[in-house]
Amino acid sequence: MNAVTFLSPVTEEIKLVEERMRMQADESHPDLRAALEHLLAAGGKRVRPTLGLLVGNSLGAPLEKLVTLGAAVELLHTATLVHDDLIDGALLRRGMPTLNARWSPPATVLTGDFLFARAAKLAAETDHLPLMKLFSETLATIVNGELTQMFTSRGLINRDNYYKRIYAKTASLFEMTSRAASMISPVDETTIESMRDFGYQIGMAFQIVDDILDFNGEQAAVGKPLGSDLLNGLVTLPAIYYAEANPNDPDVLSLPNGGWTNTENMTRLAENIRASNSSRQAMLEAEQHIERALAKLEFIDTCAERDALENLAKYIVDRKV
Ligand code: IPE
Ligand code: IPE
Ligand code: MG
Ligand code: MG
Repeated sequence: MNAVTFLSPVTEEIKLVEERMRMQADESHPDLRAALEHLLAAGGKRVRPTLGLLVGNSLGAPLEKLVTLGAAVELLHTATLVHDDLIDGALLRRGMPTLNARWSPPATVLTGDFLFARAAKLAAETDHLPLMKLFSETLATIVNGELTQMFTSRGLINRDNYYKRIYAKTASLFEMTSRAASMISPVDETTIESMRDFGYQIGMAFQIVDDILDFNGEQAAVGKPLGSDLLNGLVTLPAIYYAEANPNDPDVLSLPNGGWTNTENMTRLAENIRASNSSRQAMLEAEQHIERALAKLEFIDTCAERDALENLAKYIVDRKV
């Protein structure tokens, strides 16, 4: 799962990040240690720490701080997945049983809390106050976004709402990672701002592609339950394109009134979306974000890391997982 080309310049550093993550449960309850082992063993693409390492390395940030930042960000990501899978009742992630598939809800919630706490501690270990502020702001953005999605966005067919949602739940963390990596580098504000935007753009593309994979992905490759967004009332970009082209489809019309709770109708709607060119249209949007991201790389001098950032950005729209 990790063998993707953009990783090559930072393969060794990613091992340090994972080691740093593993250490976070030392001296904790044995079950907590086992849980973290389980989560780490399941792998994951490590896209976020890779982004931080590549940006920071190309701009001259100290490696020690980049590893700390990478571990903080990936642990925060892991904690949000632990809670997300519990909330969604998802039993599979990264091709392995989720914590909630094996443990009680209370134990799963507490493990997520523990990981959030350790992520915050790691962020503090960068000894960089603005970075710590940014880190906790981002966590608040993610949680506020998830709550907004839960309370006010179900069944809603609305582009603006969609873009706000995917910014909050996903792009904000990519943006934060890329921005933070440049904040701890010896560079000017313009470069920091470009790298912030680079992270923002690839983060938006990342979630659009995740939403496309929910319709068109291959279960075995993706390693998590697919086809679940509509059934959870989440109207994502492929569904929005479909709804715009088919405003009188009865299943579309039913969505804002709780129609998403009807499994049979939503299965039919999902099939119609798959048969349409809505996912292709959504992919074009993701590709536009990648174009904008690539334009920001001109602020970095030519180096192996810059090539890898270019590959990372392209990988985000090519990926099958
Ligand atoms: C999954 O993120 C959650 C989203 C933001 C879509 P990833 O696709 O990065 O998950 P892992 O870490 O590789 O499993
Ligand atoms: C990412 O979105 C959620 C978080 C930021 C926790 P999804 O809900 O689409 O993620 P997956 O599809 O379960 O990985
Ligand atoms: Mg989910
Ligand atoms: Mg998803």
